[in-house]
Amino acid sequence: MKTTRTDSPAEAARFIRKGGVVAFPTETVYGLGADVFSEEAVKKIFEAKQRPTDNPLIAHVGNRAMIGELASAIPETAARFIERFFPGPLTVVLPKSAKVPSIATAGLDTIGVRMPGEEITQRFLSECGTPVVAPSANTSGKPSPTTWRAVLEDMDGKIDCVLKGDPARFGLESTVVDCTVDPPAVLRPGAVSVEELREVVPHTIDTVQAADGAPKSPGMKHRHYSPVAKVRLFKGTSDLDTERSSAFIGIGRPPFDCELVRRCSTVEEYARALYDFFRECDRNNVEFIYCQPVAEEGIGTALMDRIRRAAE
Ligand code: TXA
Ligand code: MG
Repeated sequence: MKTTRTDSPAEAARFIRKGGVVAFPTETVYGLGADVFSEEAVKKIFEAKQRPTDNPLIAHVGNRAMIGELASAIPETAARFIERFFPGPLTVVLPKSAKVPSIATAGLDTIGVRMPGEEITQRFLSECGTPVVAPSANTSGKPSPTTWRAVLEDMDGKIDCVLKGDPARFGLESTVVDCTVDPPAVLRPGAVSVEELREVVPHTIDTVQAADGAPKSPGMKHRHYSPVAKVRLFKGTSDLDTERSSAFIGIGRPPFDCELVRRCSTVEEYARALYDFFRECDRNNVEFIYCQPVAEEGIGTALMDRIRRAAE
């Protein structure tokens, strides 16, 4: 299959309307989209990504009215999150409408819904005229793509089209909050922090920290976000395996000699760079990637979550 590259949202949307699969930019990471109401099209996403079929997809909408086509009800807590954080890097899990084919939600009776904020994404979704389900546009298990070039590393020849936009502004996947339970529970940390969610719904639970073992979000049990290189949280130079080729990413200077270094000046920049650096390390056959720990607040919580998962 030839993968069309375009910077035209209208051209990319035509592939969706014909039942195709299109990678598109969002503020979090690039997504791999298909028409939510076409079972055939949704199936192609799972094939292109080699994604386990028990892992549900997030539906992306261009406007608030479209949420009504996906959800059978909007709990009051969800309404408050939507009002405050849409469009943006937040996914709310809602009770699913019967209209949505069960392949999209891996058989669950709930559906994750998100409204991306970038102008190019909004134009694309409005041209599609239908909600678009999209996981991150990487091969399952690989780091999510934050640039269209990273999408092509995994997907060239496997999808119909890539809509070329800027590198993702946040660089980590959206915060997922389950609003079908009361109190609402964060299933995956992201750029919208639990602190911010609690400003709107004060009793929101941070299940990531509660860690009672049972993952409610099916995706969290799968191995995630991993480069081929071994990822380690940098704890000090006594911990280093100096025989191997290694790389360092963090804020400030690496405290040892290594082949590849990404120095970031803020936690936000670090989050934006993480997956791109993982991919760069793999292209250079680095064996170990040392990641400097950051404080677990704001986007630092999501960043540490992704580093820990990659290090597992
Ligand atoms: O930022 C993002 O969310 C990106 C962009 C493309 O929007 N998408 C993304 O999708 O990260 P994906 O499929 O890579 O991750 C979706 C996560 C998975 O962990 C999945 O299990 C969870 O959200 N999820 C999706 N629907 C769910 C549902 N109904 N209930 C619980 N968890 C759900
Ligand atoms: Mg993903």
